[in-house]
Amino acid sequence: MKKAFVKSYGCQMNAYDAGRMSDLLASQGYAATESVEEADVVVLNTCHIREKAADKVYSELGRLRVLKTARAEAGLDTRIVVAGCVAQAEGKEILARAPSVDVVVGPQNYHRLADLLTRSASMRVVDTEFPVEDKFDHLPIRRTAAVSSFLTVQEGCDKFCAFCVVPYTRGAEVSRSVDAILDEARKLVRGGARELTLIGQNVNAYHGAGAGGVPVALPALIRALESIPELLRLRYTTSHPNDMAEDLIRAHGEIAALMPYLHLPVQSGSTRVLQAMNRKHTSDEYRRLIERVRRVRPDIALSSDFIVGFPGETDVEFEETMRLVAEIGFASAYSFKYSPRPGTPAAERDDAVPEAVKSERLAALQSLLDAQRHAFNASAVGHVVEVLVEKAGRHPGQVAGKTPHLLPVQFDAPTAAIGTVVPVRVVRAGSNSLFGEAVTDGAAAA
Ligand code: 5AD
Ligand code: SF4
Repeated sequence: MKKAFVKSYGCQMNAYDAGRMSDLLASQGYAATESVEEADVVVLNTCHIREKAADKVYSELGRLRVLKTARAEAGLDTRIVVAGCVAQAEGKEILARAPSVDVVVGPQNYHRLADLLTRSASMRVVDTEFPVEDKFDHLPIRRTAAVSSFLTVQEGCDKFCAFCVVPYTRGAEVSRSVDAILDEARKLVRGGARELTLIGQNVNAYHGAGAGGVPVALPALIRALESIPELLRLRYTTSHPNDMAEDLIRAHGEIAALMPYLHLPVQSGSTRVLQAMNRKHTSDEYRRLIERVRRVRPDIALSSDFIVGFPGETDVEFEETMRLVAEIGFASAYSFKYSPRPGTPAAERDDAVPEAVKSERLAALQSLLDAQRHAFNASAVGHVVEVLVEKAGRHPGQVAGKTPHLLPVQFDAPTAAIGTVVPVRVVRAGSNSLFGEAVTDGAAAA
């Protein structure tokens, strides 16, 4: 049997796409392998969001070239596919830079992967033009699904933040219809999913066609999904503050299946920098938004993205970010040094912050965010949390799952618990995971 190795970089949407490509390859007779050496097809599903992410692709392709030559000497054919956002952004330049690549395919075109692989037998192929058809209509549906699975409901972005490549690599905002999403969700649940994370670059701008083709917003989609039997939990990511509508905030207080966790990137605590980033909200507007969310759901765990060293960011402006973080308190966060991306407006600016200053600011911010994360994790110790069990744990007899706040938990239980929610008393917080003991009925009240 032929084998396919698929590796994904970057965001959850890329992880979802990689899964769909694996399914497509499986339908073409390729078994999935974790070992690149034995793969007949290697797919790198790339990320273009920051320079470092994009650079990784070329170093990986260098290693693959050696592997491909070695396999060819042994009489084995290897097709190398570059998919994802670097493929979209760089297109045929990749063929010039990386002689081992056979196929370059964009994030909207990967439903054609089987055909592209066939064509690549005689010539190297590039497919990155945004297609007229919807790829989702041409992809096989998975038979088995992870307990916690992603489901793409929206793609692309119309916001044009000054630093971001997404509007160029993923195109304009498009939402899938409620019916298409419900259909996929039911299949995922039938395949074993008990939690779905609805994903989109700008998921809270969701406006897919509902009954009669009338567009509906994210809360209506969540309510429709909530009614699927056996679907226990729902999440969504990533959101933009300006699309955090009142009814979506209210949904956090009303829909039991909607988990108390919100990833809401703010990027900076300085209104001047936010303006330069074209974020179209102030730092006080973000604070007020968080207040409203917390009023509805006081226990919500908050998460965010931050960029330090955006061109022109002063020490005082960076301190405003530190102040915002200190005031709000985040359960988790991602923070990055600004990295200029070709084609974006910010890349044209000539007031770059020196690398050393960026590094210093990132270290300060990350140490504050780490302290907040540790404090949040530690606050679970002694409490009983509902854990959705996802898989076997690191050690025999252990299982691993997540709390409603998305904290990983390990505890002793039979693997039969996978796919169920188990109350667990947290006894210890490690640096990446909580450890606990399953609570039997009698002990739960204690
Ligand atoms: N430089 C650094 N970080 C970036 N991000 C997006 N573009 C850039 C860039 N050019 C970060 C933002 C975004 C996250 C996915 O990646 O914080 O929310
Ligand atoms: Fe990276 Fe953005 Fe593409 Fe996701 S959509 S892979 S974050 S560039």
